[in-house]
Amino acid sequence: MGHYYFIKRISAALIAASMILCACSDSAVFAYDDDAPSLCEAYSDYFRVGCAVNSWDIENPNSEQYKIILKNFNTLVMENESKPENLHPKEDEYYFDKFDEFVDFCEDNDIVVRGHTLIWHSQCPDWFFKDGNEDASAELILERIKEHVTTIVSRYKGRVSTWDVVNEVIGDDVSLRYSNWSRLVGDYDGDGDKYDFIETAFRAAREADPDARLIINDYSLESSTDKAIRMYNAVKKMLEEGVPIDGVGFQMHIGKDADVEAMRENYRIISRLREIDPDFLIEVTELDVNCYGWGQEEKDVEITKKFLKEFSKTYTDVFEMLMDLSDEGILDSVVFWGLHDGVSWLNGSHKNYPMLIDRDMKLKEAYFDVIELPAERKKAE
Ligand code: XIL
Repeated sequence: MGHYYFIKRISAALIAASMILCACSDSAVFAYDDDAPSLCEAYSDYFRVGCAVNSWDIENPNSEQYKIILKNFNTLVMENESKPENLHPKEDEYYFDKFDEFVDFCEDNDIVVRGHTLIWHSQCPDWFFKDGNEDASAELILERIKEHVTTIVSRYKGRVSTWDVVNEVIGDDVSLRYSNWSRLVGDYDGDGDKYDFIETAFRAAREADPDARLIINDYSLESSTDKAIRMYNAVKKMLEEGVPIDGVGFQMHIGKDADVEAMRENYRIISRLREIDPDFLIEVTELDVNCYGWGQEEKDVEITKKFLKEFSKTYTDVFEMLMDLSDEGILDSVVFWGLHDGVSWLNGSHKNYPMLIDRDMKLKEAYFDVIELPAERKKAE
């Protein structure tokens, strides 16, 4: 009897002590902790998970970013250093050092490399479009596209798995974007469209590395049905003409209040390109969840419980949809645009909170919600 009460009192004391300990200790998990859960492991049955990095993130094996990258991601892309202004700033000057190091790092760590991007209207040097003081002719620009694409893609043949061959070629008005590319090259082959700069880039890329996956990448495809239809029509026409496009990249810079059900419809539109090419693919290339509407950062957003719940719901709904697309066999790669809140391109005059890892590199609740989904789905099967 005496013994019984003694043991009961001891265990009650132990429970109380552990409750106090839990309440006092900071239970946060840092993304770089050895025992933190890994995103790419959790999703290994569905798709690769990646993120955009910069050269300084992969320089020091003891840095927190370095550890986070190796733990969580099995595909990577450079945020800026493989864009035309950095790789090819002058007609006769290429700077490959940073991208070489990046590709080596990925290879050493079994990480799949995405190349972003060969042709874009932004972060692109002006020399492409000039002949002396005049605008360059269509012939000259097409020659330059061929040279640029061939030089870069053949240098990394067999090492860069996927190229964003062209980026953001559909404009906000949902017509072909009016850029120096479309303006100066125009309808060179006289077939009634101005896709000629796009076609030339894709053909050169295929020739330089027949095994690389070639992507046409754009934003708002998930949120604008008009834009998704426009992309569908453009790619359909090019595929029917034999242009080697392997997939559409959905950037997925989405908002916290994104309508994920509507997104599914827009993904379905692009998926229909499989009727023309049964192997056609979709990739998610630049995922983040903006906490502000575009241009509406007048004051810092308040991080309330409600906010966090909505934020997590948007991410989990999106990942449910992405797993469905993976089940359909059309999606095998999902890439975040940045490592954590503190380094996101979405921080402007006000702090943004778009990622699953916060600025102290702690895992957010949304991270845990997202990482649990594949196992929950397995259980339900
Ligand atoms: C952004 C980078 O994140 C910024 O650092 C840079 O100043 C501008 O470009 N769509 C794209 C990316 O395809 O290349 C952009 O990256 C973000 C939007």
